[in-house]
Amino acid sequence: MHVLWNDQIVERDDVRIDIEDRGYQFGDGLYEALRIYNREMFMFDEHFARLQRCAAEIRLQLPFTKPELKKNLDKLIAAEKITDGEIYFQLSRGTLSPRDHRIPSFDEVKPVVTGSVIPYERPVDKQKKGETACLVEDKRWLHCNIKSLSLLGNVLSLDEARQKGYDDALLVRDGFFTEASASNLWFVINGVLYTHQDGNLVLPGITKLRLLEIARSEGITVKEEAVPVSKLGQIDECFVSNSIWEVVPVVNIDGKPVNNGKLGAITSLLQKKYIEWINR
Ligand SMILES: Cc1ncc(COP(=O)(O)O)c(C=O)c1O
Repeated sequence: MHVLWNDQIVERDDVRIDIEDRGYQFGDGLYEALRIYNREMFMFDEHFARLQRCAAEIRLQLPFTKPELKKNLDKLIAAEKITDGEIYFQLSRGTLSPRDHRIPSFDEVKPVVTGSVIPYERPVDKQKKGETACLVEDKRWLHCNIKSLSLLGNVLSLDEARQKGYDDALLVRDGFFTEASASNLWFVINGVLYTHQDGNLVLPGITKLRLLEIARSEGITVKEEAVPVSKLGQIDECFVSNSIWEVVPVVNIDGKPVNNGKLGAITSLLQKKYIEWINR
């Protein structure tokens, strides 16, 4: 398997990461996950812009320009002969030895970049049948807008849902829904589409960005505001969005069917329009 290691495409077994790499020791780094359709990365510019913003937030200097990164990721896609798939890459701040919590200066460390790519077809069955979810307290940190390597909060929330027999976790902070364990969260109530506003409590999803535009252009009333848990009984539709799954309905919450356990009309429309937009 070919992977990206800094600016080279190498065999996976040839990668060497230091034991004091800060990504490994502290989760001190960032990542991105993008969709590949027809051999091309989808919405690369938007993902890169998010990466740049996150890098500034954690005071990490990106070791590449946008064209340099794109060239290397394109090489990886070609080396693995991927048509439809998922590309993941990450950057750690690099190695500081001996281990020290302080953020080193730019000339003390060199960020380490790794990336891999896998084939992945659109999850059509999941998009039709949906997933089940339960409410889980959002105990993550207060920088959920940073696509940090440290995903323990997300991992634990998903695990809590899985232990209870659900597919996913709908996170709740101070009585309001934030997002799902690895996706943005949406509700339809009385014909109005709701999703949590951007800010420090959710990841500003790239799929969310596009879905908001599509929904508005379809004449759907959209409110970017947090939905209180007290409105759970009034929810007509619920779905999650991320780059890899696109739009997936949540058909059962805490054991109670949503929209009789079926794909709802607005969710279905957004699924369709999003795919049309990709194909364009
Ligand atoms: C917590 C969280 N929220 C939202 C998203 C959706 O982001 P995007 O649409 O950019 O894939 C993700 C994707 O990984 C995520 O992990």
